[in-house]
Amino acid sequence: MQTMIGVIGGSGVYDIAGLEGASWVKVKTPWGAPSDEVLVGRLGGLPIAFLPRHGRGHVHSPSSVPYRANIDALKRLGVTDVVAVSACGSFRESYAPGDFVLVDQYIDRTFAREKSFFGPGCVAHVSLAHPTCPRLSAHCAAAGRAAGVTVHDGGTYLAMEGPQFSTLAESRLYRSWGCDVIGMTGMPEAKLAREAELCYASVAMVTDYDSWHPDHGAVDITQIVATLGANAANARALITALPALLGASRAPCPHGCDRALDHALITAPA
Ligand code: ADE
Repeated sequence: MQTMIGVIGGSGVYDIAGLEGASWVKVKTPWGAPSDEVLVGRLGGLPIAFLPRHGRGHVHSPSSVPYRANIDALKRLGVTDVVAVSACGSFRESYAPGDFVLVDQYIDRTFAREKSFFGPGCVAHVSLAHPTCPRLSAHCAAAGRAAGVTVHDGGTYLAMEGPQFSTLAESRLYRSWGCDVIGMTGMPEAKLAREAELCYASVAMVTDYDSWHPDHGAVDITQIVATLGANAANARALITALPALLGASRAPCPHGCDRALDHALITAPA
């Protein structure tokens, strides 16, 4: 099978030197319109698709991002491996602004989003014990390190509804739960990618220490904006290094992401 990379990320991530034959394509899905058109082209000899999570011009809030349409659009285009790039706050002193974290666990505290492709008529329960793909995550980590970024292998991501940042009490609570980073978009993206049988890796780019840190009393917006620019450049370097690591010919996922529904509990349609 041919590898095709799908990148879901913010502005600045898809502006990549070396992207060949790029064009914006409109994709229709049964779940409505995706966040935006998808930029499709070739990078390092592999087909690649970029979807701006919040739309060009940042028109979608974390709660209004059409997560189902986004994942479905990438699947329809033939994407096999989804790299989700997003900003996050840190609950750990050692996960500093500018560092990248390859998320491997989530606590989902979002409540105002559609979280499944299945529903009345056909219910499916897929395993989410290991919500990200270890093979794809390892390649992303290697690509990040090749680009000179400090990369942490593994981290628990608290997905919050937003759009406001956390209170101090919430920040302390999530830290006490053992969470490493916090963001507003990681869920339900990871859940939907699993239902769509896509390998999914989450590259969480630290912008701030949330509100728990004694030296950073509140989320500092100027710090976030400064770090965002540097993070976007590093994300572009990571993505540029990725095709050579993944290779054009794709062996089945050793962790079964691409066969998730084979082992799901699915009710027979009535
Ligand atoms: N995105 C970037 N920083 C964040 C934070 N502290 N909380 C939630 N989402 C974020």
